[in-house]
Amino acid sequence: MSSQSIEFEDKNQQITLHNDDNTLQLTILEPDIIQVFQDHNKSKNSYAIEGNKQEKVEYQVVKKDHYIEVTTSALCIQVDAALKVDVYDATGNPLIIDYRGERQSINKTVDEAHKKIVRSEGHEVSTLSHKDDTYYEVVKSLDDDEQFYGLGDKTGYLNKRGYEYDNWNYDEPRPHIESFTHLYKSIPVMFGLKNGHPYGLFFDNTYRSHFDMGKESPNYYYYSAVDGNLNYYILGGTSLKAVISNYTYLTGRVPLPQKWMLGYQQSRWGYSMSQERVQEIVDKFAEYHLPLEAIHFDIDYMVGYRVFTWDTDKFKHPKQFLNDLKSKGVRVIPILDPGVKQDDNYDIYQEGLKKGYFAKNPDGSVYINRVWPGKSAFPDFGNPDVRTWWGQHCKFLLDTGAAGIWIDMNEPATFDGNMPEEVVMTDEDQQSNLKQLNNVYGHNMARATYDGIKSATGKRPYVITRAAYAGTQKYSTIWTGDNQSLWPHLQMMIPQLSNLGLSGFSFAGTDIGGFSADTTPELLTRWIEAAIFSPLLRNHSALQVRDQEPWVFGEQVLSIYRKYLHLRYHFIPYLYDCFAQETKDGLPVLRPLVLNYDDDANVRNLNDEYMVGDRILVAPIVQQGQTVRSVYLPQGDWLDLWSGVQYGGKNNIIVEAPIDKLPVFIKMNSILPWGQFVEHISEQPDETMTFRLFGNSGSYKHYQDDGVDFEYENGQYNLYQVTVTTDGEASVTLTNNGFAPVYKYIYLELPNKKLTFEYDEKNKKYSVA
Ligand code: GLC
Repeated sequence: MSSQSIEFEDKNQQITLHNDDNTLQLTILEPDIIQVFQDHNKSKNSYAIEGNKQEKVEYQVVKKDHYIEVTTSALCIQVDAALKVDVYDATGNPLIIDYRGERQSINKTVDEAHKKIVRSEGHEVSTLSHKDDTYYEVVKSLDDDEQFYGLGDKTGYLNKRGYEYDNWNYDEPRPHIESFTHLYKSIPVMFGLKNGHPYGLFFDNTYRSHFDMGKESPNYYYYSAVDGNLNYYILGGTSLKAVISNYTYLTGRVPLPQKWMLGYQQSRWGYSMSQERVQEIVDKFAEYHLPLEAIHFDIDYMVGYRVFTWDTDKFKHPKQFLNDLKSKGVRVIPILDPGVKQDDNYDIYQEGLKKGYFAKNPDGSVYINRVWPGKSAFPDFGNPDVRTWWGQHCKFLLDTGAAGIWIDMNEPATFDGNMPEEVVMTDEDQQSNLKQLNNVYGHNMARATYDGIKSATGKRPYVITRAAYAGTQKYSTIWTGDNQSLWPHLQMMIPQLSNLGLSGFSFAGTDIGGFSADTTPELLTRWIEAAIFSPLLRNHSALQVRDQEPWVFGEQVLSIYRKYLHLRYHFIPYLYDCFAQETKDGLPVLRPLVLNYDDDANVRNLNDEYMVGDRILVAPIVQQGQTVRSVYLPQGDWLDLWSGVQYGGKNNIIVEAPIDKLPVFIKMNSILPWGQFVEHISEQPDETMTFRLFGNSGSYKHYQDDGVDFEYENGQYNLYQVTVTTDGEASVTLTNNGFAPVYKYIYLELPNKKLTFEYDEKNKKYSVA
């Protein structure tokens, strides 16, 4: 025990604790959100948290024998004289306990000479030297029964226990495998289940940092950072759902997307090399009756990869062409990279140079590195003026007819070696460098692009980014970067999207079919099946690899692909409802079973199933050659979507899954909306909606708005309550009527009959027609 003494001051929910040498601050934001802060005289700007998140909270601070105890209705925090922090839930269960023992690494370290020998055959010895330049660490005790989730886009499996990760945004072209510690995004939030009790820890520090989730020792896990203030948030909650809600309350939620964004999108590096090729792709979608909402234009549409230009040798009249496509229901999403070509005859470069908007070398000259356009300068997105400038230029693409913007290479990626950490950039109101801002470079670019689109169009912006930090979900959807056409990458999609969802990124997807390497007919088929409920649904591939449009492998793949796209469109109203709900509770659309069933030990390591909201369970085939698999169904009864067969939960069942079958189960007694199949999602309001009852009774809340702009924020939306009681009584009620027009007819499909409800304008009521 420490011989130090501990004192505190308590002022407006901020408790400052001192021992003889140090100070630690606890700030109570909510009963179950508490910030732990130690000032190291570093920037206090948060990129993740915007606005005041503090509410008035009842709490007590009491000095006990050897510690100070802070209690809210949800958490009890004890800080001892060594400033060690222990957190318990309201019933006294330990959640987060500082580790007080000796570090005992399982790893044996070897000297430099031996490392050199290992390297001589080409083997790698740790890419990041986090262990050598740690500035501070936070070490917490680990229980035998403790699992970890979250951490954003990391590779590997759902449960992160036993692995280590780094937070340093990085363009990783090699096949992403489970031993990689970091990819494009840094989302330093982790969620734990300690003996079944949930909690979260969010480390809001943009510097390079490291998570060891019990790899070094089975007795502790730790977070370390190379710089920055000690700044983390304790997240409590009575369920994992409540903890995730708290995290997304803090860092923000995915705003409601436009409805079409939930439809199918096709992409490939190379399409936009010619207008004819783009037209051919769009025509084929129509010819094969495949729905298509958007086609993405990769870097080829620009003049020599110069951002904010459009190559009119390739596209004679881009505006007219984009308008033509739009009139057929197909939108265009062009890409922008941060690198601005170093070219004295190029206005964007000149402008950026003149205004001092590019990142600089410590000697004040503009920092140059090579990317697609050749030697390029990099906008200093941490400067609010640069963000406005960039956002205003986005208008050029929107005026040409773009429906959104894809932003890439914003880790930032560079071809001639990594950008040095000393490169000078702006941290909002102060000078800083890449060392602090690498992990938020993509975040700030996403924010600039979002704001630019929003002010130019007034519509809900569509931005898709590769790099991100905690909180980027407020500005952009994401994809998981350059995966490959490999079965392990299809397998990884499920845990990766699940953990991204838990980490706030509800709107996410993978490159369907795989980006690099050649796909196979079977892999493409299983990928579209497995991804069909993925919030972002985009097939994308690299230049040079084998084509992977739905029709290239012949009739069988085409018809299965079409069947699943049709299924997706039937579920679009459900997905849209999930997003409307997500804006309120911050829970992901695609989620691991552990989120819905956190008290079921059987789902804590489940890597090959996922849920969509609370009612749909998906168990894809993600192994080459497999046509039968075991499916774990949690508590409750479940109905096979295809056969209607009912299964009891808390059970493993064996299901047949020939090449055209994706096993999907609906929770017994659910009502789900069943959208009409369309080849392009219309901006005109639907006149009817169908709901299907799965089971004998159920109740469902459905959301409707114009699917395009922000008027819903002013109450312009409708809510419908659809109910079938256990006595078989069916009703439809409009519970909020802020949007015109409401559905004229609502169809309700019961197991043995179909009811039609008609809207009575005068009484504002639905009744059976
Ligand atoms: C990066 C992107 C990829 C894109 C390519 C060319 O590799 O991740 O999606 O196609 O750059 O722009």
